[in-house]
Amino acid sequence: MKISKVKTSGKPKINYDNLLFGRYFSDHMFIQDYTNGKWQESQIVPFEKFPMSPANITLHYGQSIFEGMKAFKGVDGKIRMFRPKDNIARLNRSAKRMAMAQVNEDDFMNGLKELVKIDKDLIPDKWGESLYLRPFLIAMDEALGLKASSAYRFMIIASPVASYYAEGLNPIKIKVETKFSRVVEGGLGEVKAAANYAASVYATKVAKEEGFSQVLWLDGKDHRYVDEVGAMNIMFVIDDVLVTPTLEQKTILPGITRYSALTIARELGWKVEERRIEIEEIAQASENGKLQEAFGIGTAAIISPVGEMFYKGKSIIVNDRKIGEKSQKLYDTITGIQYGKIKDKHDWIVVVE
Ligand SMILES: Cc1ncc(COP(=O)(O)O)c(C=O)c1O
Repeated sequence: MKISKVKTSGKPKINYDNLLFGRYFSDHMFIQDYTNGKWQESQIVPFEKFPMSPANITLHYGQSIFEGMKAFKGVDGKIRMFRPKDNIARLNRSAKRMAMAQVNEDDFMNGLKELVKIDKDLIPDKWGESLYLRPFLIAMDEALGLKASSAYRFMIIASPVASYYAEGLNPIKIKVETKFSRVVEGGLGEVKAAANYAASVYATKVAKEEGFSQVLWLDGKDHRYVDEVGAMNIMFVIDDVLVTPTLEQKTILPGITRYSALTIARELGWKVEERRIEIEEIAQASENGKLQEAFGIGTAAIISPVGEMFYKGKSIIVNDRKIGEKSQKLYDTITGIQYGKIKDKHDWIVVVE
């Protein structure tokens, strides 16, 4: 791997007292190009703009996928990544579905490690803060006409972050989306394609204008079953059972935080169900006093409790708009492992140094 370092770090420009999500970038970035049917030598270079042809096919047809993961400065000063192998595997599943070149897993892992090492002084060290890592793969052919590209660029950029949502662990108010659809069965819902996010922007903008912070997506066909919330998976506690949508329909992203929470919940002896959940069942459970908790779960916020859901003209208030016991336990356990306070018995952590 070729490494060229910045002359002067941009660290003084980063406002560590107000680390808004994804606004600041670390000093370096990783690049690897796929040309002539193979991956070329990978490089770490100063974070900077790169030239692109106006005919670049990503711009026109959207062959673009990404990942989101984090490196944490632990309570013992060690730097840890959380389940990077799962992100690497998921990026390659996305690449396959999008007819893109698969990345080399070793180059990807080395790129992550080297980038985190070279920019380690920029990692914030407060609990809840981290270095967000954004690997992404884009098509690089320069010709109009819809087809799978023959050239690709794989990059990793890094951003010191606090929590994704300004609300942090404060419960959010969400809108159950009954009109617009984000994905449908057979579509791209189970992979991390940029197209899914583009499909969600308008409905999310409308919901924000109406005073909500996120949209709860229902199945794209009948708007009957619960899928995901914003860029997170969703979980409920109904009558003491942790319930989350099944991956079977292939319409939701198999979240790595979701998997982690399900593993922890089962180990704690909680009753867990992965199944289809009708939005009407949630409304009913609330009316019967059985809906105890609802929360979004994903890398960016880890746990984002839902305090209020707006559905069919009514507000469903969850747990008096307070964080629930199970949500708190999952947050404490996952972050405990990430910051090295709780022993990692699952081999989820990769220590960078
Ligand atoms: C649509 C969507 N669902 C779920 C998740 C949660 O996945 P993970 O826990 O791997 O971050 C994300 C974030 O990556 C997402 O964008």
